Amino acid sequence: MLKGKKVILGITGSIAAYKAVYLLRLLVKTGADVQVIITPAGRKFITPVTLSALSGKPVLSEFFANNDGTWHSHVDLGLWADIMIVAPASANTMGKMVNAICDNLLITTYLSAKCPVLVAPAMDLDMFAHPANQRNIELLRSFGAQIVEPGTGELASGLEGKGRMEDPEVIVQRAVDLLESQKKKSLTGKKVLVTAGPTYENIDPVRFIGNYSSGKMGFAIARTLADFGAEVYLVAGPVGLSISHPLIKRTDVVSALEMEAACREFFPLCDAAVFSAAVADYAPAAVANDKLKRTDAEMTIRLKPNPDIAEGLGAKKKENQVTVGFALETSNGEVNALRKIEKKNFDFIVLNSPNKAEEGFMTDTNRITIIHKDHKKESFPLKSKKDVAVDIVTALEKILLK
Ligand code: PMT
Repeated sequence: MLKGKKVILGITGSIAAYKAVYLLRLLVKTGADVQVIITPAGRKFITPVTLSALSGKPVLSEFFANNDGTWHSHVDLGLWADIMIVAPASANTMGKMVNAICDNLLITTYLSAKCPVLVAPAMDLDMFAHPANQRNIELLRSFGAQIVEPGTGELASGLEGKGRMEDPEVIVQRAVDLLESQKKKSLTGKKVLVTAGPTYENIDPVRFIGNYSSGKMGFAIARTLADFGAEVYLVAGPVGLSISHPLIKRTDVVSALEMEAACREFFPLCDAAVFSAAVADYAPAAVANDKLKRTDAEMTIRLKPNPDIAEGLGAKKKENQVTVGFALETSNGEVNALRKIEKKNFDFIVLNSPNKAEEGFMTDTNRITIIHKDHKKESFPLKSKKDVAVDIVTALEKILLK
């Protein structure tokens, strides 16, 4: 993820400095080249020996090396780095960062850095909430730094509240996202509609017809499109997933009719649509107002067909609009997928199957075949849904940028 990236990890005086050891280990494991800079206060919490052993480099703290007087150039360090992460960031260090108080190497390096900066505060709840500290955080943001908001929980003081440094895994992911967001984006200016998850069709106030879709595939596609620079209209059925990206506008729906209404609104604004939702094909013809009571007799629920969202929009797509469908097939996959391409006017379809435990619904992995309208196809091995999403978005990108 961070292979070959040059990272400055700034550690300051906070109990959370112990977590920086794990953060450093994770950064090194992902392939990053890490230079640790620790403030004098940070050294009271954690020893440079541990940090240099893990980073494979001397840990910098002073402006000059004590043994031979070598100058540690903050300018060179600032230019060397692809990203600077200050974690934990104490209130004291953030105060110095925003006021350019250069009494240690970490601050001078921050002021010289040309790279993106990620700051993960850690302190007691009242210090964190104090207007002086909040103003400093806002100032850091206004200078371009990204803040990894601390979590809420038990603090070193024994008090409970907001101030715990975020977990190292989250900080690494934020660093990856931040670097990703700096890359040139091939789909900048493009707008893409994505449907994701299941739909629920009510039977009565407490029961519904639904399916096993978790939304993971669709959310991974939305995220990848945004990483490629596209503006994404994500229409999500009932799923337990969260997603946060400035380019993703999420609309939550429950039923197929609601999903259709949202898609009709957004599709005309879009250059492309990816229909990954598992839309219920039928809904109860009538929804009971009261909870249905159990009896010993058999029960029949009359169903009416739902609209086919992809087919309806595919029928009126403009020449420059691209649509991508999914086919979830248990047998005769390719034949059925080709039929769906024709019927729904897709540019290509993503064929997958729920037959194996590691594919299809709910899993973090999937195995797909992409079939184009000219019947050209490409099969991919089992991959994480994130990587599957990259394959799908790359295929879409080729058509959009033709
Ligand atoms: O959400 P996950 O747990 O990650 O699982 C992912 C997935 C298995 C749901 C996903 O990969 C997938 O296959 N989604 C499509 C499932 C499906 O409904 O396939 P289908 O073959 O029934 O539908 C064909 C296409 O028409 C799909 O693009 C579907 O979104 C669309 N459709 C179907 C019915 C309908 N009423 N309206 C539609 O738009």
